Amino acid sequence: MKDDMRYLTFALGKGRLAKQTLELFEKIGITCEEMKDKNSRKLIFVNEEQKLKFFLSKGPDVPTYVEYGVADIGVVGKDTLLEEEKRAYEVLDLGFGKCRMCVCGPASAKELLKHHEMIRVASKYPKIAKDYFYNQKHQTVDIIKLNGSVELGPIVGLSDVIVDIVETGSTLRENGLEVLEEVCPISARMIVNQVSMKMESERIKKLIADLKEQLA
Ligand code: PRP
Repeated sequence: MKDDMRYLTFALGKGRLAKQTLELFEKIGITCEEMKDKNSRKLIFVNEEQKLKFFLSKGPDVPTYVEYGVADIGVVGKDTLLEEEKRAYEVLDLGFGKCRMCVCGPASAKELLKHHEMIRVASKYPKIAKDYFYNQKHQTVDIIKLNGSVELGPIVGLSDVIVDIVETGSTLRENGLEVLEEVCPISARMIVNQVSMKMESERIKKLIADLKEQLA
């Protein structure tokens, strides 16, 4: 690699998504050895040879780093993209991190959804919940933002239903709740800063092409 070559910077959401992203990247020859150390608390990792930089952020912050251009590329769940509404090109569905965004609740809440009653909806995703109920279902609801363990909402009587991610369904089952309606499918997506796409188009297009070939 040329010495004067600029770093291509990736923002990855900490945790499982970052791990799966690196596994995929390895298959196309992109590596970052120092990132594999599970006990490391470091947030930034560099591959000098390939002029790549990776940083680990909270998932919901990935689109922010990419919008502002401090990261050229981000990998993040579609749920976060829908919720955060940041400016960036969504270029690839990476196929992992698959789950569903759903309206869930006790079976008894089905009737409330049918009759378009004014209900309370708890969610970590207030924008997605609002868009679904207001724009798709034309149902006026009261949305309550929670930060996690959203399943508690209907159990303790804070809300009638929740809008949340369902992967295996075991959290719902173990708490006596079920999927009532499906909002949309979710998976990991690659996003690219709009200026980087032009300035670094050669490297980024090659990366996208390599990933596409690997995923096919
Ligand atoms: C997510 C989601 C559900 C659960 C779904 O929560 O919010 O609670 O996983 O997975 P399952 O269908 O396989 O049970 P997460 O573990 O991210 O924690 P959180 O509740 O703090 O958001």
